[in-house]
Amino acid sequence: MDIFNGIGPSKQSKFYEFILNQDEKSLLRFLTCGSVDDGKSTLVGRLLYETKQIFEDQLAALKNENARYGTTGEDLDMALLVDGLEAEREQGITIDVAYRYFSTSKRKFIVADTPGHEEYTRNMATGASTADLGILLVDARRGILTQTLRHSCIASMLGVKHVILAVNKMDLVDFDQDIFDRISESYESFCKDLDFATIKSIPLSARFGDNVTLRSERMPWYLGPTLLERLETIPIDHDGLERPFRFPVQYICRPNMEFRGVAGQIASGSIRVGDLVRVAKSGSLSSVKEIVTMDGYLAEAREGQAVTLVLTEQVDVSRGNILSPPDDYPSVSDQFQAQVIWFDHTPLLPGRNYILKTECDNTTANVSSLKYSIDIPSLVKSAASSLRMNEFGVCNFSLHLPIAFDSYRDNRATGGFILIDPFSNKTVGAGMIDFPLRRAENIHWQALEVSKRSRSELLGQKPAVLWLTGLSGSGKSTIANHLEKLLHANGRHTILLDGDNLRHGLNRDLGFTEADRVENIRRVAEVAKLMADAGLIVIVAFISPFRSERQLARDLMEPGEFIEIFVDTPLEECVRRDPKGLYKKAFSGQIRNFTGIDSPYEPPENPEFHVNTLGVNAVEIAVNIQCYLEQV
Ligand code: ADX
Repeated sequence: MDIFNGIGPSKQSKFYEFILNQDEKSLLRFLTCGSVDDGKSTLVGRLLYETKQIFEDQLAALKNENARYGTTGEDLDMALLVDGLEAEREQGITIDVAYRYFSTSKRKFIVADTPGHEEYTRNMATGASTADLGILLVDARRGILTQTLRHSCIASMLGVKHVILAVNKMDLVDFDQDIFDRISESYESFCKDLDFATIKSIPLSARFGDNVTLRSERMPWYLGPTLLERLETIPIDHDGLERPFRFPVQYICRPNMEFRGVAGQIASGSIRVGDLVRVAKSGSLSSVKEIVTMDGYLAEAREGQAVTLVLTEQVDVSRGNILSPPDDYPSVSDQFQAQVIWFDHTPLLPGRNYILKTECDNTTANVSSLKYSIDIPSLVKSAASSLRMNEFGVCNFSLHLPIAFDSYRDNRATGGFILIDPFSNKTVGAGMIDFPLRRAENIHWQALEVSKRSRSELLGQKPAVLWLTGLSGSGKSTIANHLEKLLHANGRHTILLDGDNLRHGLNRDLGFTEADRVENIRRVAEVAKLMADAGLIVIVAFISPFRSERQLARDLMEPGEFIEIFVDTPLEECVRRDPKGLYKKAFSGQIRNFTGIDSPYEPPENPEFHVNTLGVNAVEIAVNIQCYLEQV
């Protein structure tokens, strides 16, 4: 169950399922995090080595590699055991999340080794979203760093319940108790505001093995458990089994006419043959007739298992639904509040569309309001209009279609989601749902009896949105104006929405930051849609610098209705024309965020109509556009 990995039932979860079923020993999932040189990989390597998880051939290979990459001279470099990636070995830093498995006689473990570099919040969030415990490594010589506090906050927000502060490299501070005490006290006092169930500090040396699995004779003053003892004995709430049954539906399995099963992986709780289940989105009820797995039929299945459920009644259930007990079911809504971590260089902007992907569902979504950002590690909340890379915020989301979910607090598997940029396909953020917003439920679509079609028939025209985009001074307004005159003279019913004009009224509260421009375009797109619904030919002349919002406008209209017209005038020419003297001001620093100067313009990739304005007058261009419109 790892939605933050971004892909449905991942290889990792199959692996996890295998481990879970292997024997009755309990499973502890933990993650390690720390700064680049704190010795994470060395620590994990030592754990594997001393718990005898390393085979002879791996040891031989390690000795070989030690000569090539090792950083510890004659000693075996434990980090080489775990730094699986070639690139990482060469750079000497860990750059991706690596999951490893090991077991002792008491417990089995999955460890997520996540990098500590400032930019790698994404990997940290991936590892933390499934972990029960976090080991935070610090170098005894350097003590607690901002990074340690950041990681602790992220772990806490992602629902990690237990932490161990591993104060590493004690050998380099002469195993000094005072140093350890100071570090552990300051850490524990910081963690008071975080939601951890237990916090434990352990002094150790990963390189020499002190207090990792063997008690250190060089720190007799330390009476607590070794790291391994702590990992083996920390009580983990196996609340996964006590929590209500949740079965996110991955797909409907229909190999032949006789068989119809609902396939997925149990996110929490358990299910038996005969149990009643409820389908989240429709509310319909059915009961479990059979539980089918690769290895045959089961009477009962539980958290982590991938199964196919055959239901007695043929109810309407599809991918994206969640099966649950009839009296304890997830929410279904198209609006909710969530905490968000932003990973991308391009900031999160309210109003911009992203693909929101849960364990089993996805839909288009945007942030309808960014309530505040949370500074990490101070946890101070402040007003924000966007979230930048590695920033946290609390947002209201608005979705195109309702999804089924729980709050992240109740269930990490059904309460988490990722956000994907529809243009780059990159995962740009992760979210933890707080609660559904009910206000959406009381607003209904009012059925209107005079349709768009009858309105446009009365006007004798096909509605359209002619969207002119281009730099300031490119000629949009002039061309739009001529175009409207031509259409008007031809008996067309038109309206012209011009950036400068709307900014005097409807959009007078908006400036030129990225966030404000997104909102500017969102509003004008909504207005254009209403006008097109009224049957009009709508001419829009806005810089509309971002691809994403032009796409949003296009998506609002009916197919074929949105006609993107790129008024393509080179920046040098716009600067030369400078009709309003604004470029001059922008160059002298009197105006900030000026498009083309210190704010980007993303040219359309496939506009319906491309206008080259050099050497052509605006009337001619308007005539050309009119001719084009008559053909489509
Ligand atoms: S948009 O980028 O949000 O689409 P819009 O088309 O509404 O911009 O408004 C652009 C007009 O505002 C420009 O033609 C120009 O007259 C004026 N303007 C004032 N400041 C700026 C600025 N920083 N960047 C661009 N245009 C500006």
